[in-house]
Amino acid sequence: MHPIQAPYPATRLRRTRQNDGIRGLVRENYLSAADFIWPVFVRSGTDIVEEIPSMPGVMRRSVDRIVDAAIEARDLGIGALCLFPYTGLEERTEDCAGAWDPENHTNRAIRAIKAAVPEMVVMTDVALDTYNINGHDGFVEDGEIVNDRTVEALVKMSLEQARAGADIIGPSDMMDGRIGAIRNALETEGHQKVMLLSYAAKYASAFYGPFRDAVGASGALTGDKKTYQMDPANSDEALRLVARDLSEGADMVMVKPGLPYLDICRRVKDAFGAPTFAYQVSGEYSMIKAAAAAGMVDEERVMMESLMAFKRAGCDGILTYFAPAAARLLNAQ
Ligand code: PBG
Repeated sequence: MHPIQAPYPATRLRRTRQNDGIRGLVRENYLSAADFIWPVFVRSGTDIVEEIPSMPGVMRRSVDRIVDAAIEARDLGIGALCLFPYTGLEERTEDCAGAWDPENHTNRAIRAIKAAVPEMVVMTDVALDTYNINGHDGFVEDGEIVNDRTVEALVKMSLEQARAGADIIGPSDMMDGRIGAIRNALETEGHQKVMLLSYAAKYASAFYGPFRDAVGASGALTGDKKTYQMDPANSDEALRLVARDLSEGADMVMVKPGLPYLDICRRVKDAFGAPTFAYQVSGEYSMIKAAAAAGMVDEERVMMESLMAFKRAGCDGILTYFAPAAARLLNAQ
C-alpha cells in the first residue's frame, strides 16, 4: 500500500510526532464549531429551562427560551440547530394531528428563532413518534406500523415546517418513499431552497434510551422499532438506503447512531461523496457524561476525541449534544 516507504531506520514515524509544531503540520483532520448541528428540545409553557434527568447538562426549553439557545449558538459559531419537541402524554393522539399543527412546539420555535436570529440554520425532525400515543414513528394499525399512510402524514408535517421557515427537514422515520414524496411536495409548493437531510441509515439502537426520556416517548412506546429501523448487523443495506434517498432528492444523508457506526460513515462517504453527517446520540452523550462524573475519564478530552473520530471517518458534520461545550473549547484554543 505504501511502496515508497523506506524501512527503519530511514523511516522513523515518531519523527513527525515529536512536538506540537510538527504534529500541527501533519494533522489530517480538524474540528470547528461550524461542523456542529446542536439538537435542542422544545416544550410547552413560558420561561421554562429544565434539565433532562437522563441527559446531564441538556435542557428542555419553552419556545420563548429557545431563542436564548439560538443566540448562544450564533455567538459560538455553531451554524445550525435541530429542533425536537417534548410532548407529554396528554399532547399525544392516535391520529398524530399535532405533527402537522402549524402551532406545534417545533413550528412556533422555528418562527421565534428566524425572527430573532435569521441567519441561524434551523433543522427539524420529521417522524410521528413525538405526537403519537403509541410512541412509534408511523401510524399503528392492528399492531403494525403502516408505511404509505404514514408517508402522507410526514408530507403534511414537512410542509408545515417549511411554511414556518425551516431550512433543513430531517426525516428520521425510516419509512420507504418519504424522501421522494416530501421532495415532490416541497417543489410543488415552491419551497425549492428547503434542504432534506435524510436519516438514511438509522439503526434500531439501544443508544436512543435517554432521548426517549427527553421527548416523553419512553412511557408511550409499545414494542420496538425493528420493522423500520435497521438491523445493527447490516452494512450493505445502509448503502442501498443512502443510494435510494439520494436518488429521491435528499441533499445530505445521516448515519445514526454515531461512534458505534463509524464504519458505515466511511463506506457512505467513499461510495457517494455526498454531504455526510453522523448523529452522536443521547446514549453516547450520557455514557461519556456518566463516566466523567464517576471520575473514570476526562470529560473534555473524551468529548473532543469522540468528535474528531467523526471527521476522520469522513463525516462533514456532526449532530451532537456536546456542540456548545465543544465549540467553547475550540474557540478558546
Ligand atoms: C425518532 C428519533 C429518535 C432520535 C431522534 N429521532 C429516537 C428513536 O428513533 O426512537 C434519537 C436521538 C438520540 O438518541 O439522541 N424520530
